Amino acid sequence: MIKGQARVDLASTGAARGSQVAVSEPVTSVNTPPGQPCTPALAAVQRIVAAHAQQAGALLPILHAIQAELGHIPPDTVQAIADGLNLSRAEVHGVITFYPHFHQTPRGRHVIELCQAESCQAMGSEKLTQHVRKKLGCDLHGSSPDGNYTLEPVYCLGLCAQSPAMLVNGVPYARLTPKRFDKILGYVTEAAE
Ligand code: FES
Repeated sequence: MIKGQARVDLASTGAARGSQVAVSEPVTSVNTPPGQPCTPALAAVQRIVAAHAQQAGALLPILHAIQAELGHIPPDTVQAIADGLNLSRAEVHGVITFYPHFHQTPRGRHVIELCQAESCQAMGSEKLTQHVRKKLGCDLHGSSPDGNYTLEPVYCLGLCAQSPAMLVNGVPYARLTPKRFDKILGYVTEAAE
């Protein structure tokens, strides 16, 4: 590699297997894409991109940092990320959408991940999911109207012996019933107040 040349390794992301994209000039600042107002979110993204752009395989650390700071990766900042790394918008979008961990819409204050895999299904997760959707007022992949809860499906949490199971803000809960779910939701909501 030419001295002073930064590389973005997409191979490990699965989005562009086996390929490496060379950035011809080290990036020290990121411009606002033409015609786009510089919102606080875009300014944060530009700062994060500039901070990581010279690191090898910068895209994933950048996406993690953006999501950690903003809670999601706003779609209108994808162009700035692409420009900062000398990638195409499609390449960045491909990586964001490849990993379920990355989100392009704001998430609720509490994230509920409800298992939909076989063992949980056999133990009533379908009925439980219907109850949870009704209780939160949103569908899977959605957020409650008050923005407090995001409901996501997951496919096995390794708690099959105690199905059905879920994570709430990363904390596992098992042997769920609609009644037990309501109780847990009550604790979680109360603890956050
Ligand atoms: S199938 Fe739900 S925890 Fe394994």
